[in-house]
Amino acid sequence: MHGDHEHYHYETQFFNKKGELIDVDVNSTSILDNGKYQGSLLVARVITERKQAQRAKKRIEKQKHQTQRLETLGTLAGGIGHDFNNILTPILGYSEIIQQNLNQDNPNYKFIGEIMKGCLRAKDLISQMLSFSRDEEQDKRPLNIIPIIKEALKLLRPSIPRTIKITRDLQEPCPLINADPTRIHQVIMNLCTNAYQAMETKGGILNIALETIHIDSKNSRKYIDLEEGKYIKLVISDNGPGMDKETKKHIFEPFYTTKEEGTGMGLAVVHGIVKSHNGRINVYSEKGKGTTFNIYLPIIESGKSVEIESNFTIQRGAGTILLVDDREEVTDTLQQMLISLGYEVYVVNSSQNALEIVNQHKDKFDLLITDYIMPDMTGVELANKINTMQSSLPKIMISGHRYQMNSAQLKDSGIKKILNKPVLIPDLAKAIHVILNAKDTKQE
Ligand SMILES: Nc1ncnc2c1ncn2[C@@H]1O[C@H](COP(=O)(O)OP(=O)(O)OP(=O)(O)O)[C@@H](O)[C@H]1O
Ligand SMILES: [Mg+2]
Repeated sequence: MHGDHEHYHYETQFFNKKGELIDVDVNSTSILDNGKYQGSLLVARVITERKQAQRAKKRIEKQKHQTQRLETLGTLAGGIGHDFNNILTPILGYSEIIQQNLNQDNPNYKFIGEIMKGCLRAKDLISQMLSFSRDEEQDKRPLNIIPIIKEALKLLRPSIPRTIKITRDLQEPCPLINADPTRIHQVIMNLCTNAYQAMETKGGILNIALETIHIDSKNSRKYIDLEEGKYIKLVISDNGPGMDKETKKHIFEPFYTTKEEGTGMGLAVVHGIVKSHNGRINVYSEKGKGTTFNIYLPIIESGKSVEIESNFTIQRGAGTILLVDDREEVTDTLQQMLISLGYEVYVVNSSQNALEIVNQHKDKFDLLITDYIMPDMTGVELANKINTMQSSLPKIMISGHRYQMNSAQLKDSGIKKILNKPVLIPDLAKAIHVILNAKDTKQE
């Protein structure tokens, strides 16, 4: 045969007989005779495995990059947080001294108050940054996660509009994981809150599913970033508006939010908690197609004799609580939490008003919950003043930073417990329950 060849080499995808998409490497040669096409010689090789491995590698690299980025942000946030706290301490401290030396009708009294308020807001923001970057204070134990899911849903239901349906698909019994119940509760609350907020205007379905998966050499390609072993897979999905690619890229970053009132810390905290439990989280979302978060947490080896934490209950109760914090956004959240726990709540946004209300309604309240740093009076000063009117009122103080108080001081002011911000519902519920029950026994 005399003539020319035209050679082509390319990669493409075909459907095989079973309808599966396969990758193919094609070598094609057209045979020409005096420029006239005679036919083609085509050699196609299936290269699906190689292509899948390449894609998996790319995905792992992307994920690694994302994790490193978040770690860097965490370190940065922690570092800046501490420095910033140091800068704010003298500003706040000297402002306090100046204010104490001024008469209340001096116009500068109010201005200094504003400076202090600004500092306190900054301090609060920092405490959130630090809570994202530290994974201290974890209390891990063998845990059955189902009671935690049920508790979280019980708490959420009253605040979720009726147009949102909640469905559950929990495989029981659930194998144990090594985890901190309060943190896992926070993960579920944050993800469900995001889901219902996304569906708030139009309604929809929030689904929580739990299953067990076993990753071995046969299916490990599907779970590229997970080691072989057994995991529980928690899936929280909604059929809300979903996210575009750009939003999805940033959601785990601290302070990234698309909401007017959001802090953007919800998912950053979730990511931190999942990571500190040696787990993984991934998200599937597209505009108009809803959002699904998958969380994988390693199961504790079977056969190990372990004590099981299977009774995760959030203690509800009854009683009247006076809640004091100068910022409404803080009292709004805490009030919601307390109502969901069954308490009746009175809110005041200044320590002066708190004093007045206690004075007018002696014996009305069973508990006082107060912030520590407030512009006109600290939580401790408020506690001491209230003591002169009603010494039996127990108090919980909430502090944005580790607050050191010796036990004599605590006893004198009637502060039974100090809770650190951000306050988590299980901690709050437990503290109140312990205090109110101790009070009842004493009175009997
Ligand atoms: N289920 C979801 N559907 C649609 N968008 C979501 C969903 N979950 C998270 N997002 C997007 O991710 C962003 C970050 O979420 P994250 O929970 O970290 O902060 P936030 O919800 O904005 O603020 P905060 O948690 O303090 O209320 C949200 O602002 C939103 O744009
Ligand atoms: Mg959120």
